Amino acid sequence: MHLILMGLPGAGKGTQAEQIKEKYHIPHISTGDMFRLAIKEQTELGKQAKKYMDEGALVPDEVTNGIVEERLAMKDCDTGFLLDGFPRTIPQAEALDEITNKLSKKIDYVIHVDVPVEKLLERLTGRRVCPTCGATYHVVYNPPEQEGICNKDGAALIQREDDTEETVQKRLSVNIEQQKPLLDYYESKGVLITVDGDQDIDKVFADIVEKLS
Ligand code: AP5
Ligand code: MG
Repeated sequence: MHLILMGLPGAGKGTQAEQIKEKYHIPHISTGDMFRLAIKEQTELGKQAKKYMDEGALVPDEVTNGIVEERLAMKDCDTGFLLDGFPRTIPQAEALDEITNKLSKKIDYVIHVDVPVEKLLERLTGRRVCPTCGATYHVVYNPPEQEGICNKDGAALIQREDDTEETVQKRLSVNIEQQKPLLDYYESKGVLITVDGDQDIDKVFADIVEKLS
């Protein structure tokens, strides 16, 4: 199963990916997570990505395409993968076609998690994440058992640096502009699946599973 999760910032890509990767036994590959790890480890890639991410802008295609190409060539992607947040531009989609061709793979489905834009600001400013295991919560919609503490490992939850209202607005406008041509691109290839992301987390997941089957 070679899948792509698409959706605007806050649509629930990461949240759904947690369940999809367990069910289908495929690695979850989030370019955003890869950049955040590189920033934490202060690598050259992290230094390059940070200035764009802090502004809510997209990291340049050539940087992003390179890390995806390396990642998809890894052994654990032999039987499938779940891309989250890539591709985000038409040149990235074209680069992905080249990468998958080289690897003799093809994208089976692109899952678009569709959420009205007006819901996204609240989802993002209320998001809390675990700095150790990456688990994602929401102060209202998906709270941890104990306020501010990760259910899985007991770490103190934090807010992502790009989840301030100002940066969220920029991320939304950048992504809204880029998303429509990408949806058309995959629609024309006959691989686009759209699910209503404005429902309970488990219901969104059930809809994804139903559509994939
Ligand atoms: P990335 O980390 O991918 O951020 P994003 O696309 O902005 O998406 P998010 O991770 O914010 O949202 P999500 O859809 O995963 O939602 P989540 O499940 O967490 O990218 C970050 C940055 O990296 C970019 O801005 C860019 O700079 C760079 N970058 C990454 N990829 C790139 C690329 N391909 N090209 C160039 N640059 C790139 O959920 C959000 C909140 O909502 C949580 O609190 C969650 O608990 C809650 N929630 C989830 N589902 C529901 C539900 N059904 N109901 C109610 N609440 C829900
Ligand atoms: Mg995410």
